[in-house]
Amino acid sequence: MIVEQKLSQDVFSDVNKAFTKQSMIYDSYEENNKILAWMRKQVHKAALSFLKKDDTILELNSGTGTDAVFFAKKGFRVLATDLSDGMINEINRKVKLENLSAEIEVMQHSYTELNPIHNRKFDFIFSNFGGLNCVSDLNLVTKHFSSFLKNNGIVCLVIMPPVCPWELIQLLRGKIKFALRRFNKSGLPANIEGVSFYTYYFSYRKIMNALGPNFKLLKLMSLGVFTPIPQMEVFQNKFPRLLSFLNSLDEITAGYFPFNRIGDHIIVIARYSVETKN
Ligand SMILES: C[S@@+](CC[C@H](N)C(=O)[O-])C[C@H]1O[C@@H](n2cnc3c(N)ncnc32)[C@H](O)[C@@H]1O
Repeated sequence: MIVEQKLSQDVFSDVNKAFTKQSMIYDSYEENNKILAWMRKQVHKAALSFLKKDDTILELNSGTGTDAVFFAKKGFRVLATDLSDGMINEINRKVKLENLSAEIEVMQHSYTELNPIHNRKFDFIFSNFGGLNCVSDLNLVTKHFSSFLKNNGIVCLVIMPPVCPWELIQLLRGKIKFALRRFNKSGLPANIEGVSFYTYYFSYRKIMNALGPNFKLLKLMSLGVFTPIPQMEVFQNKFPRLLSFLNSLDEITAGYFPFNRIGDHIIVIARYSVETKN
C-alpha cells in the first residue's frame, strides 16, 4: 500500500477538520442507520451492474473506505482518495485490518488536486454519498476525468440534488428555510461536529454539463424519494414496516422520470468516449 500525504488546500481546511472529527463515529452511525445502509446497498447494486471483471477503480472522497473495502472484496483494485486526515487514517486502519493492501491503495488528495496521479488510467471513477457536494464548482473535479479514464471508462457519481421531497414537505410544517435550503445558489452552511463549511447542490443537468460532451448518460437513478432522509432515524424505529414499503417503492421507481432526478441523492452513471461529440 502506498500512502501518500499531501497538504490539503486551504479552501477545504474546514472540510478536513469537520470530517476528521466525524471519522471516529462515521461507521458506527451508519451501522445503526437502516436508511443509510439501504442507500449504500442501492449504490453498490448500481455500480456493480457497470463494473467488469478486473476493472480498476479511482474512488474520490472515499471516507472511511466502506466502498473501497466492498469493491476490493469483489475482486476489484481501488485507488481510494480523500482529503481528510481522519478519514485517511480510518481507511489505512481498515486496509491493514482486512489485509487488503494488495487491492486498495490509499492517497490523501483533494479531488480538485489530482495532478500527481495524472499518469494513471482507470476503468471506473466512483464518488459516493455527496462528497462532491463540498465543492462549489464541479468543473474543478471533472476537468481531471478525461486524463484518468480509459476510453469507454465509466463514472458513477452519487450527489445530492436540489430537489429532495422529504425536505420540501417541511413547507407544510412552516419550516420554509429548511425546506428550500438546497436551492441557495451561494451554498448552504453545513455543520459537522461543530465545524462549519459550505455545501452545494447539483441537478443532474449541471452534473452532465460539468462532465462535458465526451460523457454519455447511461443511467440516472434517485436514492430516497419515498424513503425518508437518513437523518430521520426515528422513522426506522417507529415504522419499520412502512420504511421497508417505502424502500420497495423507491427501488421500483428509482430509474424512471420524474423520480430519477430528485431525492436525497441521485446516482449518475456515464460513459467516457475519447471521440468528441459536436
Ligand atoms: C459524506 S462523506 C462520504 C464518504 C464516503 N464516500 C461514503 O460513502 O461513506 C464525504 C467525504 O468527502 C470528503 N471530501 C470533502 N471534500 C473533499 C475534497 N475536496 N477532496 C476529497 N475528499 C473530500 C470528506 O473528507 C468525506 O470523507
